[in-house]
Amino acid sequence: MKRLFSFSVVNFINKPAQIITPPLYSLSVYRRSESASHFHTKSTDDIKQMDLSDMRKKYKGDEESFEEDQLISLDPIKQFGEWFDQASKCPEIGEANAMCLATASKDGRPSARMVLLKGYSTDGFCFFTNYESRKGKELDINPLASLVFYWEPLNKQVRIEGTVKRISRQNSAEYFHSRPRSSQIGAVVSRQSSVIPNRHYLREKNAELEKKYKDSEVPVPDYWGGYIVNPYLIEFWQGQTNRLHDRIVFTRNKGGETELQEMQHQAEGGWVYHRLAP
Ligand SMILES: Cc1cc2nc3c(=O)[nH]c(=O)nc-3n(C[C@H](O)[C@H](O)[C@H](O)COP(=O)(O)O)c2cc1C
Repeated sequence: MKRLFSFSVVNFINKPAQIITPPLYSLSVYRRSESASHFHTKSTDDIKQMDLSDMRKKYKGDEESFEEDQLISLDPIKQFGEWFDQASKCPEIGEANAMCLATASKDGRPSARMVLLKGYSTDGFCFFTNYESRKGKELDINPLASLVFYWEPLNKQVRIEGTVKRISRQNSAEYFHSRPRSSQIGAVVSRQSSVIPNRHYLREKNAELEKKYKDSEVPVPDYWGGYIVNPYLIEFWQGQTNRLHDRIVFTRNKGGETELQEMQHQAEGGWVYHRLAP
């Protein structure tokens, strides 16, 4: 285990992404059958509406359901760790730490994108990005976020909601300098989410900065760093073939004290949990 942050990091992910040649999945395009009357072919110049109604995979059978007595801990961070470890060890999952991060503008307009989880602890879930990117601007005015992991071969999803804060400059700088040099330069080159003329512009800027910092450390841009999502909700979902999916949800109040509602159970560390209908 590596310590990156001043708070205790339960687990830290700083391995280079495993390079796995993914199996070639062909996304079959299902043509509208004559009898599928609820799907109408909409002709445009060259695109027909694709009917994907038959695309579904089998999840788990009832004998493999996820029950409350299978929680390895009543601390949802530890439970996350258990599922995360399973995902990390699963050879079919190339980037177990890839997660969808959703933010929203002040007027509630949502946006979502993938980012990489770079550490987690009882304090929360950490990722790094450009503070002036779209997500950065949204987090400045609305410091709430939602994270979603989906580990498809395991039929497992974890949803996290929480309040978001920037981590310290020192911790951001430490992580920045632990990255490959090309990624450090890349972070300086890219004013993420700003409009640029073409790819050539990036290449030129990259070459310029490679030259500039040839013999010196790349300085951490002040517009780049880490965020931590401090969770108030963590949901563990496991898919069942019969669609009676398992959903165990942990919640925590800001003050730490949560009065138990009907069908809610006490967990650890100020958390309570309940089961939701799928
Ligand atoms: C698997 C994956 C991992 C990514 N990881 C990161 C990341 O850790 N940090 C980041 O800023 N962007 C990451 N990106 C790029 C983002 O998805 C996105 O394009 C970028 O952050 C700009 O988003 P924004 O304009 O909404 O701010 C990743 C993309 C993928 C597909």
